[in-house]
Amino acid sequence: MYVCLCHAITDTQIKNAVSQGDTSLADVKKRLGVADQCGKCARMAVQIIQNQLEIEPKYYEVA
Ligand code: FES
Repeated sequence: MYVCLCHAITDTQIKNAVSQGDTSLADVKKRLGVADQCGKCARMAVQIIQNQLEIEPKYYEVA
């Protein structure tokens, strides 16, 4: 689903950004440009980022 209409950014793109190491709206904004125009998508983007951070493992077990 589209989260940011100004830049046509989807929730999947935001989740992928978190998977690649982004941990905040500022990180995702830098990577994708989300919320850098009208800003109406910021709240939804933050929710998606926080949900994804809860799902993603914070570290990988070795051996
Ligand atoms: S909807 Fe994302 S900046 Fe406007």
